[in-house]
Amino acid sequence: MPEAPPQERPALHVEGLDVMYGRALSALRSVSLTVPHGAVVALLGANGAGKSTLLRAVSGTLRLHRGAVTAGRVRYGETVLDGRDPVAAVRAGVVQVPEGRRVFAGLSVEENLRAGGLGLGRRAPSQVRESRERVYTLFPVLAERGRQQAGLLSGGEQQMLAIGRALMAAPRLLLLDEPSLGLAPRMVFRIAEVIREINAQGTAVLLVEQNAGMALSLADHAHVLEVGEIRLSGPADDLARTDAVRRLYLGDPAGDQGAA
Ligand SMILES: Nc1ncnc2c1ncn2[C@@H]1O[C@H](COP(=O)(O)OP(=O)(O)O)[C@@H](O)[C@H]1O
Ligand SMILES: [Mg+2]
Repeated sequence: MPEAPPQERPALHVEGLDVMYGRALSALRSVSLTVPHGAVVALLGANGAGKSTLLRAVSGTLRLHRGAVTAGRVRYGETVLDGRDPVAAVRAGVVQVPEGRRVFAGLSVEENLRAGGLGLGRRAPSQVRESRERVYTLFPVLAERGRQQAGLLSGGEQQMLAIGRALMAAPRLLLLDEPSLGLAPRMVFRIAEVIREINAQGTAVLLVEQNAGMALSLADHAHVLEVGEIRLSGPADDLARTDAVRRLYLGDPAGDQGAA
């Protein structure tokens, strides 16, 4: 098969990004990273490092949190995303699953999924059906629970619903903010499998995690954010062997003294 032209293989480029909350709090400084078409890139970092802030700057949701890009650029292919709104990002094919798996607790599973395509304008019913089939194939439990109130699902199921809702917008780049947070190990494993499958279907993923083990097992490339700045970057396999990453994020107390 011939390679698709570049405009159909867009990459996310974050270049020299500075973000402030209010006038005094600098949350990101000179952050640059790229998510190539079809890749999985992990962004690791401790609580407060600025991971969610970066995703917000990409998805156009920064302003909802009273933040602003004060320097730098976010581009997805040809489309400039910094300073735009969430609808612009979704239309460009970039969709975020926010932190804390916020589903509409009072609505049914089906209604939550229907809300996922909103903002895209009118879409052909066949397209909507196709997206819903994709979600139900990935998460059969959501098909079984279609009429159930979302607030009654388990934490893991709510995370699946939050991801499913994002997939309803047929993203080419999915932004995931700590999908494993607070889930039991078995469910973390299941979420990791699903991310792998979503990516195998052609959707690129920018994965924010504190669970470095999980993220590095999925990612091609990874970055470590520390207090608003990128500290380390490299192929995920290399980073998993780095002493600092092993000590700080992989729970290996011998990290620094380990064999080099
Ligand atoms: N809405 C906000 N208003 C003010 N400061 C914020 C806001 N959201 C985050 N911050 C601050 O920005 C920094 C980065 O936060 P965040 O991006 O949420 O980090 P992470 O997702 O890595 O835990 C932290 O110091 C945090 O307190
Ligand atoms: Mg966060």
